[in-house]
Amino acid sequence: LPAIVRTRADLRAVLAGIPRPVGLVPTMGALHGGHRSLLERARRENATVVASLFVNPKQFNNAADLVAYPRTEARDLEMCAATGVDLVFMPAQDEIYPPGFETIVRVPMLGSKLEGEHRPGHFDGVATVVAILFTLAGAERAYFGQKDAQQLLVVRRMARDLGIATEVVACPTVRDPDGLAISSRNVRLTPAQRAAAPVLHRSLRAAEARWAAGERSGEALRAAMRAVLAAEPLADPEYVSVADPATLDELDRLTGAALLSMAVRFGEIRLIDNLPLG
Ligand code: PAF
Repeated sequence: LPAIVRTRADLRAVLAGIPRPVGLVPTMGALHGGHRSLLERARRENATVVASLFVNPKQFNNAADLVAYPRTEARDLEMCAATGVDLVFMPAQDEIYPPGFETIVRVPMLGSKLEGEHRPGHFDGVATVVAILFTLAGAERAYFGQKDAQQLLVVRRMARDLGIATEVVACPTVRDPDGLAISSRNVRLTPAQRAAAPVLHRSLRAAEARWAAGERSGEALRAAMRAVLAAEPLADPEYVSVADPATLDELDRLTGAALLSMAVRFGEIRLIDNLPLG
């Protein structure tokens, strides 16, 4: 069974004598098949695997979303045990943010586009907590899902800028058989919303097919995604994007790689998905 540590001091003490390399899988708990793939990959590539379970209040721009965020600690620990995690870091809030905490890690350009535009402050919260976790764990590698493509970019830039040596490893999005990207928020969908939710992936695939057929207009690809979304009455699109995968600037014309991405609401539940082109 994995050892559980709850304080910064214990984490440092346990990690001091541990076999290297260390692979870190930062999570907010509510572990699902996507996390499982991160844990399994970390297990294959490292001598020691550390998983962190911490629901980070600073990255929730919406208080109701924080309250509703699923908490499944016992099952999370079972998955950690089943995937061979050595150490689970489960800090209380004031262990991560001690009294008087005031530091903010901000990646202003990458963090303000797309998700950042619709969730103000979200990436400040992500970059801040991941900087703390990276610093505490001192891992050789850390594993993140491609599903949160912008988070990956923000975390990579943060680690490089701050001189943190942890290598950020991107892992493919894990999908249900009908194409819906696995997310902790999927369990909150009603059956009708769940049945409608694969429309995100369908619309990404429709744009990808247009691109494969030679379409290079960003606006035509955005329109292709919007058209598929519009045919699903339960889906309320927040944005669709065809962006430069390095800067996240919207593209008029595609001359190389691009990132298709979107956020779509189903009632209260907001889902995101993306698909890299090229
Ligand atoms: O992707 C997540 O679950 C969170 O954003 C992370 C990286 C664990 C930071 O809280």
